[in-house]
Amino acid sequence: MTPILEVQNLNRRFGGLQAVSEVSFAVAVGQIKAVIGPNGAGKTTLFNLISGTIPADSGQVIFNGQEIQGKQPWQIATAGMARTYQNIKLFPGMTALENVMVGRHCRTTAGFAAGMLNLPWTWKEEREIREKSLELLELLEIGDLAQVEATSLAFGQQRAVEFARALAAEPSLLLLDEPAAGLNMHETGEVARLISKIRDRGVTVLLVEHDMSLVMDISDEIVVLCFGQKIAEDVPTAIQHNPEVIRIYLGDGDV
Ligand SMILES: Nc1ncnc2c1ncn2[C@@H]1O[C@H](COP(=O)(O)OP(=O)(O)O)[C@@H](O)[C@H]1O
Ligand SMILES: [Mg+2]
Repeated sequence: MTPILEVQNLNRRFGGLQAVSEVSFAVAVGQIKAVIGPNGAGKTTLFNLISGTIPADSGQVIFNGQEIQGKQPWQIATAGMARTYQNIKLFPGMTALENVMVGRHCRTTAGFAAGMLNLPWTWKEEREIREKSLELLELLEIGDLAQVEATSLAFGQQRAVEFARALAAEPSLLLLDEPAAGLNMHETGEVARLISKIRDRGVTVLLVEHDMSLVMDISDEIVVLCFGQKIAEDVPTAIQHNPEVIRIYLGDGDV
């Protein structure tokens, strides 16, 4: 397997709490890999370490053969890693389409920076960004909502806008932090389908999720975190039958 991402012996402490402890795993090109675990297991912290949002105490994060720790967020984005957040972060007062257009900034030249500074965009560049962003909204099946204010959409649709915005940066690896958080069962099913669709377009996906049912259907492999430690890593059917995993999830009241 060709790994796109390798996490090696990653550690992160908050005061007296070891939030991520000696975690190692790899993500192969073209996979959907999931990290699951109860609330407080360290999933978001792990994500923040991988996306370079917070520094690790020790360990490596190798993306496409290169250590990404110490790099600036824009460098990591340009290298091909994009992420979404557990709490949806869309820009209020902007349409769905405009939110997606913002996601393209790391792939454009002066045009977009000029736009942000209220300088005139070049016509051609703006038109290209707009067309590409609309295509992404269509891919995520919300093309008809392009002109609607993003934060007024239903949660499931807001997730789709967030996915489109992340894809606008043309990532090779997409990190999704709890994409089903706040969604009802129907919306969760739709989001699962969209994630598979994104992978089928050639984007490798690493997602962390509290909800086991979402990841069972769509993941190729699953890592289970508990109190910051990796306790299992296997294909979904094996994870489903892993006694320690069952115990954790039953204890959590959440299977
Ligand atoms: N910035 C922080 N400061 C202190 N403790 C934190 C911080 N972020 C997370 N934690 C703690 O680290 C543990 C793991 O949190 P988190 O990574 O958010 O878990 P998960 O995403 O799996 O629910 C929790 O006990 C949480 O309270
Ligand atoms: Mg979290």
